[in-house]
Amino acid sequence: MSVRVGILGATGAVGQRFIQLLDDHPIFELAAVTASPESAGLSYREAAKWRVDTAIPDDVAEMEVVATEPAAIADADVDLLFSSLPSSVATEVEPPFLEAGYVVSSNSSNDRMAGDVPLTIPEINPDHLGLIDVQRDERGWDGALVKNPNCSTITMVPTLAALDEFGLEAVHVSTLQAVSGAGYSGVTSMEILDNAIPHIGGEEDKMETESRKLLGSFDGAELSLHDADVVASCNRIPTLDGHLENVFADLADDPEPAAVRDAMRAFESADLSSSPDQLIKVFGPDEPDRPQPRLDRMYADGMGIVAGGVESTTKGVQYNCLAHNTIRGAAGASILNGELLVEEGYV
Ligand SMILES: NC(=O)c1ccc[n+]([C@@H]2O[C@H](COP(=O)([O-])OP(=O)(O)OC[C@H]3O[C@@H](n4cnc5c(N)ncnc54)[C@H](OP(=O)(O)O)[C@@H]3O)[C@@H](O)[C@H]2O)c1
Repeated sequence: MSVRVGILGATGAVGQRFIQLLDDHPIFELAAVTASPESAGLSYREAAKWRVDTAIPDDVAEMEVVATEPAAIADADVDLLFSSLPSSVATEVEPPFLEAGYVVSSNSSNDRMAGDVPLTIPEINPDHLGLIDVQRDERGWDGALVKNPNCSTITMVPTLAALDEFGLEAVHVSTLQAVSGAGYSGVTSMEILDNAIPHIGGEEDKMETESRKLLGSFDGAELSLHDADVVASCNRIPTLDGHLENVFADLADDPEPAAVRDAMRAFESADLSSSPDQLIKVFGPDEPDRPQPRLDRMYADGMGIVAGGVESTTKGVQYNCLAHNTIRGAAGASILNGELLVEEGYV
């Protein structure tokens, strides 16, 4: 089976990851690429300042970039759209595609916390896709909008889901986030070299709210947030890719670190093309200095989560976790949601 897909905002940092990950994808065939009015009409090679570490696929390089509006992709016969637009643009531009009946798997942060929009990680909360029916009723469109979480949230939440069996009560997390998370022009070299920045605008709120939605329960009509308190402190450091996070989780039970490691390793993955066989790789006490961004971010082709440093605290456990922010944390996450949408019959 082949599904024709398009990318909204295909020339940006995340858009380029989409192009890379969709090259030779077993299901998806790229049929349309859009960008800003300045790029429309150019070939992809002309429009994109290509910065990914593999060459632009030949067929994509010669594709024409079109405007980000439904009429411009009408002839491409696309069944599914991936979106990597700045959220201020996506707020205006995604609804016309949904009204035109497109299914949109989006990275942008707008609408992630809307009560009728599934915020989904396929291995964690695939049942939240049921919100699409609520969304179609409430918004009156035939399309479907599905979001993936922020890159720092997606790094931590699979590990929290694995801890839920011990009674997850509260979470404190401090992040060490790579510069690629801010986009190519997000942080200048003069700001970040020889430095660390202890604030990332809006990021703490995203981690605190999105985590509770992802871990929440859906009863077929309404979604309830998980009741664990989540407090985040977000920091930018001069790594290129891979967010590392120090997590302190309060638990009702008092599991041994070995039981926590076992629960993370045993946490079930999803049976989708881009999902790793083992979702969470866990380093044991013999390797206390792992995971590290440079060494571990490409675990499972950048789609896995890596944890380590699990130790008991007076209230539960502390540990470190890591994921590749532009693969698992952005384009790869949207593609995985696209695979789930196909599997569940929404595409
Ligand atoms: N970078 C990350 O690690 C990361 C992780 C998770 C989520 N995200 C989210 O993903 C989204 C994209 O991030 P990014 O880093 O890829 O941004 P980016 O590099 O700035 O790319 C933005 C894309 O949107 C297009 N665009 C800009 N203004 C437009 C307009 N008015 N109409 C239509 N298209 C327009 C750009 O086209 P032109 O090339 O023509 O300007 C480009 O293709 C953001 O919402 C971001 O928050 C990013």
